[in-house]
Amino acid sequence: MTLSVPRRTVAAAALALAGLLAPAVPVASAAAAAADQSAAPVTALAAPDIPLANVKAHLTELQSIATANGGNRAHGRAGYKASLDYVKAKLDAAGFTTTVQQFTSSGATGYNLIADWPGGDVNQTLMAGAHLDSVTSGAGINDNGSGSAAVLETALAVSRARLQPAKHLRFGWWGAEELGLVGSKYYVNNLPATERSKLSGYLNFDMIGSPNPGYFVYDDDPTIEQTFKDYFAGLGVATEIETEGDGRSDHASFKNVGIPVGGLFTGASRTKSAAQAQKWGGTSGQAFDRCYHSSCDSSTNINDTALDRNSDAVAHAIWTLSAGTTVPPGDVYENAADVAVPDNGAAVTSTVGVSGRTGNAPAALQVGVDIKHTWRGDLVVDLVAPDGTAYRLKNSSGSDSADNVVATYTVNASAEAANGDWKLRVQDVARYDTGYIDSWKLTF
Ligand code: TRP
Ligand code: ZN
Ligand code: CA
Repeated sequence: MTLSVPRRTVAAAALALAGLLAPAVPVASAAAAAADQSAAPVTALAAPDIPLANVKAHLTELQSIATANGGNRAHGRAGYKASLDYVKAKLDAAGFTTTVQQFTSSGATGYNLIADWPGGDVNQTLMAGAHLDSVTSGAGINDNGSGSAAVLETALAVSRARLQPAKHLRFGWWGAEELGLVGSKYYVNNLPATERSKLSGYLNFDMIGSPNPGYFVYDDDPTIEQTFKDYFAGLGVATEIETEGDGRSDHASFKNVGIPVGGLFTGASRTKSAAQAQKWGGTSGQAFDRCYHSSCDSSTNINDTALDRNSDAVAHAIWTLSAGTTVPPGDVYENAADVAVPDNGAAVTSTVGVSGRTGNAPAALQVGVDIKHTWRGDLVVDLVAPDGTAYRLKNSSGSDSADNVVATYTVNASAEAANGDWKLRVQDVARYDTGYIDSWKLTF
């Protein structure tokens, strides 16, 4: 859908460049905003396609992390924490509330990452998760970079869609699964009984891109199971019940305390039969994943078709089981006047005035930023609410030598009144490279 309100015209932007216009020019009038909202239908929403390229980019990153840290991402090793930091940074920038939970196992500190999407009925929380640790022998790209990346990209898709699910959504990345479901057990055991009873379901994704794939659905909660089966039926892909070891992944931790569970799996060390090769293709008489728990579980140990289908199935289940509804197209307020950012100098701001709205800003306020700069690592960027509260969008990072900050950040701004002057605050904190705020916008 296109914007319902006109953006600044090129001519207006040119005048602003010449310093002839006031810097803050909201593009949405109050009347336009009101008309927009009342016209918006509320209907069940189909899940978006999850871009395979995005999922694979996460796998590339996890492989690089393993390569830079002794070849693995195992519990207690540097590659595990680096993997967690990577996933957490993506979720923070997308507006999730993240929590890192620490535990100790085999004498080493382990970490779970929990990410809550603001909104929805917390008394009915739908959870999806994946273990983020590998074994020590390899990078763990199918086991379980695949599930970790698909869950991450689905969470990012929730943010991009500004999804307003009826249920509350929570995502989890577990540590030390390979030591015996340690992280997920720790999470469940430390949830008070009242919190456990709010979990209406847990979806698990462990190994969903096996190189010689099968399409297996866990035989657990009937509603969850049927949701996955329906998705694959729609693709014309046959599924089978998962039998390669029930209880061998993190869903068991949830199932043990009575939480409905489900999940997907493309096979580990078991051999693909002739009948399975007939319906799914691939090689009969060979393991679903010949690199299971070995050093060759690297970037090339992925079947793209399986990863693509399963990633879309994750999103389908999240959208369907959380009863997501369409979100009205947002009203855009933009300031396209250039503001120079002095080298290693004082912070500068660009203002967007918002008026005529009622109540608070959304829990998923999107902040589109376009800053031209020759070394973006120099920049610290904040969104400043009308009352002065600052929300950090980006920290400086000496090593990030890339050009420009062109990104959409999502901020939970539900504690802020919508109306008033919002500011983008940019400071260059290191010498030599410079730039300017080209434009920025808020989507309410
Ligand atoms: N969780 C196992 C591992 O990481 C892999 C596995 C084996 C599995 N059987 C399974 C995962 C069945 C899910 C379902 O080593
Ligand atoms: Zn494993
Ligand atoms: Ca600089």
